[in-house]
Amino acid sequence: MEEAIYKKFPEEKVEEIESLFTEIGKEFKGKAEELIPMLQRVQKRLGYLPEQALLAIARMTGLPAAKIYGTATFYAQFRFQPVGKYIIRVCRGTACHVKGSDRLLNTIEEYLQVSPGQMTSDGLFTIETVACFGSCALAPVLVINDSVYGSLNRSKALKLLDEIRERERSSSRHSTQGN
Ligand code: FES
Repeated sequence: MEEAIYKKFPEEKVEEIESLFTEIGKEFKGKAEELIPMLQRVQKRLGYLPEQALLAIARMTGLPAAKIYGTATFYAQFRFQPVGKYIIRVCRGTACHVKGSDRLLNTIEEYLQVSPGQMTSDGLFTIETVACFGSCALAPVLVINDSVYGSLNRSKALKLLDEIRERERSSSRHSTQGN
């Protein structure tokens, strides 16, 4: 079965959406022209646009849900799937392509067992592709959150991911011990 385009926010965390919409209710009047800023506000807080939030915006604005979905899907900035703590953006521009960005992307996909746009099951990583970062002299380039890594090869890229995983493991061990 095909995966749904829109993901629901987890039921156990649904109060987060309720408190977000209490804030949104104070910041916005619920006018149709506020639709894009409202979608941006939701994504900024939740990381993506879950189905419940899109329906809540439909109720607030009085716009049909189909119109909200249509508008949100029109803009590339909006996401409909949860994202990992680390977003790995792989450059697919010409300079990076010539320097093997396809192989780099395949290696990362295989290693993390996800495709671009998907999140790893541990919630740590999401892979995305980008047309060009404007750092072509560093090709092939990838960006993890706000950090740029250039002149990468496959083993360097995997080492970066392992380092992040190790850092996350040790920080969760410390926080467990601190409890
Ligand atoms: S082509 Fe990759 S940074 Fe420009």
